[in-house]
Amino acid sequence: YRNVRVALLGGGTVGAQVARLLLEHKEEFASRVGASLELTGIAVRNLDAARSADLPKELFTTDAESLILGADIVIEVMGGLEPARSYILQAINSGADVVTANKALLATHGTELFEAAERVGAQLYFEAAVAGAIPIIRPLRESLAGDRVKRIMGIVNGTTNYILDKMDTEGASFDDALAVATELGYAEADPTADVDAFDAAQKASILASLAFHTTIPLESVHREGIRAISGKTVELAKKAGYVVKLLAVCERLTDPATGEEGVSARVYPALISREHPLAAVHKANNAVFVEAEAAGSLMFYGAGAGGPETASAVLGDLVSAARRHVIGGPGLGASTHANLPVLPISAITTRY
Ligand code: NAP
Ligand code: HSE
Repeated sequence: YRNVRVALLGGGTVGAQVARLLLEHKEEFASRVGASLELTGIAVRNLDAARSADLPKELFTTDAESLILGADIVIEVMGGLEPARSYILQAINSGADVVTANKALLATHGTELFEAAERVGAQLYFEAAVAGAIPIIRPLRESLAGDRVKRIMGIVNGTTNYILDKMDTEGASFDDALAVATELGYAEADPTADVDAFDAAQKASILASLAFHTTIPLESVHREGIRAISGKTVELAKKAGYVVKLLAVCERLTDPATGEEGVSARVYPALISREHPLAAVHKANNAVFVEAEAAGSLMFYGAGAGGPETASAVLGDLVSAARRHVIGGPGLGASTHANLPVLPISAITTRY
């Protein structure tokens, strides 16, 4: 096998799980890609911090810049705007492809990063930046690129859904529910980003830009968080047959005043009928409905946050980037190396 050198920036909730899965399934990755994926190091701030996975100590470094220099692919799961932005630019300019889960960075400096990548022919992958484990970036960017999306609507923040769900189903207090969401690794480093819907607005800006083939700046996304939602509000909603959910809605609209067609993107807490499928989205799950002119209505559902769940999306991007590195092209390609046998019907023990 050839060797693809992978540098990991960040070893927190997501990064530690990316590293664990990459090391645990090294052989499978090699067979899927046709090359060995060598984790060359993990850049962190504190070498002595506790990690959610048992990882070799010698992989850790505080010298992110040196790690980037020797990498074919750089995975950025540090979060924040700086130094993440500078590190990604350094990676792109040194010829690496980049995988990132950083929606704050993409919604703020996305244009600069994509232009930098385009200039040198590098690729920037970001499936994990919206809705955790759920594949939504590729469907919008690729599968639906031949259609005309009319509306995207859904729950795109796991932390606030976890809080509102715990308030609704268990009568938990806002603060207690937020503390558990943080403990479980769903919340951002500063949970204000979740509670005040900055995170959901960043995701709406990314989704709307992809869906409508334009740039929807973060500042133009209408944003209302859930800080004002009290236990009393949740209880009253429940009595009236509703549940409170933080919604993101991005849609193509015609301004009735001017007749001009444009895009509206907004995030706000909404009353959802208990009959609606979104009412059944519990815990830190997310759900995204896409309405397109020819495809009709599509629904994407699954874990919206969490270490292993988000690592799944990051690693999917890593496989694409590694295949692109080895085979060329877009890095898709079928998996042809696994050679697993087909089992007889008598092997089925599961009932669905
Ligand atoms: P996290 O647990 O706070 O981990 C951040 C990691 O980056 C830590 O290992 C930290 O080092 C390291 N780091 C931060 N600043 C650094 C710097 N200046 N230099 C070197 N290392 C630095 O964050 P996370 O939850 O894994 O999230 C990472 C990214 O994924 C964020 O962009 C987040 O929005 C995104 N994301 C998270 C989730 C989720 O469910 N958590 C889901 C989707 C996307 P130390 O460990 O030494 O502090
Ligand atoms: N803090 C984010 C959330 C992580 O709760 O949805 C996933 O993007």
